[in-house]
Parts: sequence; structure tokens; C-alpha cells
Amino acid sequence: MKSIKILAPATVANIVCGFDILGLALNHPQDEMEMRCIDKPIITIHHTDDFNLPLVPEQNVAGAALLALINEYPNKNIGFELIINKIIKPGSGLGSSAASSAGAVAGANYLLNNYFGKTDLIRFAMNGEKVASGVKHADNIAPCIYGGVTLVRSTSNLDIIPLTAPPMYVTVVHPQIEVKTSDARQILRKEVLLKDAIQQWGNIAGLVAGFLQNDYELISRSLEDVIIEPIRSILIPGFDEIKKQCKEVGVIGGGISGSGPSVFMFSKDETTANLAEQIMKAIYNKIGINYYTYVTTINKDGVKITDC
Ligand code: HSE
Repeated sequence: MKSIKILAPATVANIVCGFDILGLALNHPQDEMEMRCIDKPIITIHHTDDFNLPLVPEQNVAGAALLALINEYPNKNIGFELIINKIIKPGSGLGSSAASSAGAVAGANYLLNNYFGKTDLIRFAMNGEKVASGVKHADNIAPCIYGGVTLVRSTSNLDIIPLTAPPMYVTVVHPQIEVKTSDARQILRKEVLLKDAIQQWGNIAGLVAGFLQNDYELISRSLEDVIIEPIRSILIPGFDEIKKQCKEVGVIGGGISGSGPSVFMFSKDETTANLAEQIMKAIYNKIGINYYTYVTTINKDGVKITDC
């Protein structure tokens, strides 16, 4: 049976104010996978990276997503062999688990002649997020599958809206500290004040309108999170300083990528994006924390599949 290669992009969930509902795909970094369909109901997973991720399908995010897909496929005599080379570090806040699960189900669907639709694939991949963080959020998976910027209006009755956005550079710093998504969710308050909710709704609506109208000023004004960021930013050394200094050199805005610890900034031009990168590097050099940085753009295509 034929083999395919899969590239699954990193994603920035939340996009500051849209906790669990907004996300976008990045052109860099991307996970690499190889996959084959077999005529036995077995899933085998092999990792060529050093992250020591579980290989039992039920405990592996890609495996859990594939099991959900197989469960809804009429021919029960199918299985998959999957080789994953994770380039997106687990726990980075760059949608590492989503890339594995979305990449796996998109690849499987390609091998099954696109039997399922994109919404089905997102639904299957959400089982991987459940394994990773205990919650079936879709704000990383949706942009990974669709590319671009996506809005998850509802997860109970899955409703994904792909959004257009103006061209933007995205600068990302991934400080080498561990922030588990489950922990970063645990520390959040379970209730919000009405006044904060109103401000947040205004920002989310403003951000979506800004994306659709290519209005950089409106995007900039709307990149404000009064609910999640004040709590989570405490886990990220240098966060306030990165934001302050990046604003001073003219970035559009930014904040925590997903549940962190990565931090991202949007810029209109490459020069500003590179300046933001220099600021991030200088801040973590000073603090003494190792890091990776990426200067990239929004990935319009999502998971990419090619025949071997
Ligand atoms: N929306 C999720 C969170 C994304 O912020 O917890 C996790 O990557």
C-alpha cells in the first residue's frame, strides 16, 4: 500500500483574547510524519524524535485521534503505520499535540480517499487534545487542518469558521521552561467578572473584524486579554518586558501562544519582526534562559500531504 509524507504546522491558539476559540497556523516549525494504511485493525506508532512520547495508541495523541477515525469508518479491517518526527517541541504552546493528531487524521483521510470532511477530522483530532490536556479544545486543531486563522464558534456542535487575515509576520520565542497545558488551565479562575467579560467580547469581536477588514490598527487595539493573560503571564519570565519593548519598536501586538510558555508578536513588515526577535533574544540572554526563536508568516494551507 502507498506511503505518504505529512507536514503538520505549529499553531498559535487563543490569539491573545480568544481563549479556546481563535487560532492560526504558522509556516514554521512543522512536524514531519510518514504514514501507510494496512489491512489489519492495528495502529503502530514510531517516534524518530527524542521526546519519549507514549507509543500505545490510546495514550498517544495521534493514536487516540486515529482510533476515533477508524471507529467511524465502515471497513473495520484497516489500520495505520505512522512514523512521527516531532519538530514542534511538546509543551511549547505551539500546538505540538494538535500537529500530531491533526496530521495523523488528515493523512489517514487522504489514504482513505477523503472519505471524511474537515469537520469530522477536527472532531477526531480533538480526542488527541483530550489525551494531552484533558480537554477537547479545537483552537489548535482547526487552524492546523484548515490553515490560516480560524474561529471555533462551538465545540459541542462543532462549528468552525475560517477567517481571512491581512499579511503579517509572526515572531515567536519559545523559552526552554516547561508549562503544561493542564497546569496552565488549572490555575485559571472558573468565574469572570461581567465587566471583564464585556471588555473581552469587545476585543474578540474587534480582532475578528480587524482580520476581515485588513485593519491593522483595529487588530492592534483588540490584542488585549483581561481574563487569561494576567494569570498565565506570571508563569513566563520576561513576558511583560517582551511586550513592552516589542510595542516600542512598532509590532502590531501579541501575547502568550496557546497556554505558553511561547510568546508571539505580529508585525506588518519583516524588519519589525526581526527587531522583535532581537528583543526576545536579548531578554532571555539577560535572564539566562535558553530559547528558540522563529520569524515566520501565517500558513494558509494547513496540513500538507505528498505521496512518497
Ligand atoms: N486554548 C488552549 C489553552 C490552547 O489556552 O489552554 C492550549 O494550547
